[in-house]
Amino acid sequence: MIHTLIKINFIKSLKKISLLIVLIQSLNASTSLVLPFTWMKDNQYCLSIKSLKKLNDLFNPNVFIETGTYYGGTTENASLIFPVVHTIELDKKIYLNTKNRLSLKKNISFHLGDSPAILDKILNNFSNQRILLWLDGHFSGGATAMSSKETPVIEELNVISKYPQNEYIILIDDIRECHRKEWPSLREIVIAIRKINMSYRITISGDTLIAFSPTTKVQPSEILNACSISRLFAEFPEEFNLDQVLEAEKTISKAPPEDVAELWELCNNLYSPSSYYFLWYGLTQIESKIYLSQNECFLYKIDPRQINHPRIQKYLSQALIRNQSYSDK
Ligand SMILES: C[S@@+](CC[C@H](N)C(=O)[O-])C[C@H]1O[C@@H](n2cnc3c(N)ncnc32)[C@H](O)[C@@H]1O
Repeated sequence: MIHTLIKINFIKSLKKISLLIVLIQSLNASTSLVLPFTWMKDNQYCLSIKSLKKLNDLFNPNVFIETGTYYGGTTENASLIFPVVHTIELDKKIYLNTKNRLSLKKNISFHLGDSPAILDKILNNFSNQRILLWLDGHFSGGATAMSSKETPVIEELNVISKYPQNEYIILIDDIRECHRKEWPSLREIVIAIRKINMSYRITISGDTLIAFSPTTKVQPSEILNACSISRLFAEFPEEFNLDQVLEAEKTISKAPPEDVAELWELCNNLYSPSSYYFLWYGLTQIESKIYLSQNECFLYKIDPRQINHPRIQKYLSQALIRNQSYSDK
């Protein structure tokens, strides 16, 4: 009798333990599928190994395609992580130098030519692949190439839309350039992405746009989601209401220290950073009552030609009032 009771209790505890394990596993699975807000690069140009690993963990792509090879920083990093890497460069000298430098990396295919045309040829050979695209083939000053326009990103997206048989995770670099007349607007870019897949989630991780299918089950982190709403509001005012935007910016103001550090990197590491980076960083500084820093962001760094909305004046007066009451003490 005692023996049977012990056996029953043992089985019951085993069941409880396995239930606990399943619970822990599902919790781990849901937290590990979170796309964080990050400054994704090693320097001004290259995707870092850390970000590429994170993208690999989240999306598990089997092919990596890059437009704009340049010195091959991202190409080399990607070759350490993905089984197949393609990279496209328009400038012959840059193409030859980088191909030569990375000649021992057998999983990289180097292509010379204008990115939309070459991308068309590459994608024509793939079906049912999960492809991570790093769209970064644009004129960047110095010896870099320029086709008929500074950036062929819209043409690249139009090519991708011809091949719906693959799944894409699309990264577009240098989103801060979108306010310049030589670049398409962010609205035009998002519309071109929606032609590939209307349901893609569009997130703005600082200077990089990341678009992916909701079927991947990847969720943007709270801060990434908030920054995306804050940035996309100006382009798609019909899709967001002001309360949503104010709520998102409140979330940004309370960002945890690791996200504040990423925002700081965005403001400080880039040539001509976007006014949005100063808005987001400035909000965290108002919240933390760091007066000098908040004033610098709101008084000197936010260009009204880039963000022109009455809420910015409201944030500025909030900052000044707090600053005043601090000086009066
Ligand atoms: C910003 S750099 C690329 C940086 C590189 N992707 C990385 O992550 O290290 C841009 C490169 O794109 C090239 N480029 C410009 N227009 C291009 C085009 N239409 N097709 C292919 N490459 C292009 C430039 O010559 C330059 O080398």
